[in-house]
Amino acid sequence: MKRILFVCLGNICRSPAAEGVLLAKARGRGVKVYIESAGTGAWHVGDPPDPRMIKAAATRGYDLAYQRARKVEIADFYEFDYLLAMDLANHTDLMELAPPNRSADIRLFLDFADCQTRETPDPYYGGDGGFERVLDLIELGAAGFLDHLEDESE
Ligand code: 4NP
Repeated sequence: MKRILFVCLGNICRSPAAEGVLLAKARGRGVKVYIESAGTGAWHVGDPPDPRMIKAAATRGYDLAYQRARKVEIADFYEFDYLLAMDLANHTDLMELAPPNRSADIRLFLDFADCQTRETPDPYYGGDGGFERVLDLIELGAAGFLDHLEDESE
């Protein structure tokens, strides 16, 4: 079973949504995964996801309400198979934190998606449309990432 950690900045919008969407889609396809999410920043540690993100996700059938924010830890670089960054800044931050002998593969999540966009834009300071856009991109990323895991296990 692959262990996956989604990483964004605050761990209250994008990476919790990615955790919830991938979990639901993996269950739907019968792919066994262990998923968590974390932030590179510590402002929201212990908080549930942003209520706007919880609501937008719930409308599509994804439950995010159980999640609580935490910060990325050095142990994550050894305990997860994949650290999936939501944008390029998250990816750069992870590469800077990464111990040289880490075992995790550090990737940009949308590089697995069938789309031209590489980054999931931060919706925190924008309107409701930003949360729908985040979910659209994450659904594409989740489908592509599950294809990748299935190819890998063949
Ligand atoms: P996220 O969005 O990285 O998708 O969780 C953010 C949420 C909060 C903040 C930044 C980004 N913040 O600066 O508080």
